[in-house]
Amino acid sequence: MTGPSRLDIITIDGPAGSGKSTLSRLLARQVGYSYLDTGAMYRAVALQARRRGIDMRAPGHLAELCAGLDLRFETGPGDNLLFIGEEDVSEAIRTPEMDLLSSTISAVKEVRDAMTALQRRIGREGKIVAEGRDMGTVVFPQAKYKFFLTAAVDIRAERRYRERLARGESVAREEVEKELRKRDEQDSRRTIAPLVPAKDAVIIDTSRLSTDQVMRIMLDRMRQDS
Ligand code: DC
Repeated sequence: MTGPSRLDIITIDGPAGSGKSTLSRLLARQVGYSYLDTGAMYRAVALQARRRGIDMRAPGHLAELCAGLDLRFETGPGDNLLFIGEEDVSEAIRTPEMDLLSSTISAVKEVRDAMTALQRRIGREGKIVAEGRDMGTVVFPQAKYKFFLTAAVDIRAERRYRERLARGESVAREEVEKELRKRDEQDSRRTIAPLVPAKDAVIIDTSRLSTDQVMRIMLDRMRQDS
């Protein structure tokens, strides 16, 4: 997997609830790289579009919105905050409404073009763990290490359900699974940059694995390939 043109980038793609975020954060800490949460960027675009009453499928208005959007990550000890201008939107983007709206908006070419350009700018120097849906396929095809995490849909729904309960939401398990399936379908079926593993990605089914076990598999693969 290595070569002179390969960048020091680790990509982690996969569907919602596959364990991407937890593993990406941990892996970044372990190898001393920055963590790039690209889902958060699509969430921020959706949040701002919602606040301004912009139609989630209107390319012209969305392109304009993206062009003027001042998105900035701030990484501190233990957290990764996202700002729009001076406002910390890290909490506001994590709602069930933003789960679905970010998925809808991410199918719009103009939005993807803007986010891809920004992600590449952030990753220019390498040394990042980039998490998302199209990191290994579209944004950083030259990444040195690529992983694709997946898990059975009921297990992913259960993880999401527990996360939402822990956040104090009262929600039905079936509702969480229904939303997750809808988002999977939108993200996998869209024409541009759909959720698919890169040909050279290591696919890991996390259904029956602990975080530690997945982490060990990833580090072992990286050791073998370097
Ligand atoms: O990873 P997440 O759940 O925060 O992502 C929210 C949505 O953003 C997801 O449903 C699809 C979209 N997304 C994308 O299209 N490409 C990415 N690289 C990351 C996220």
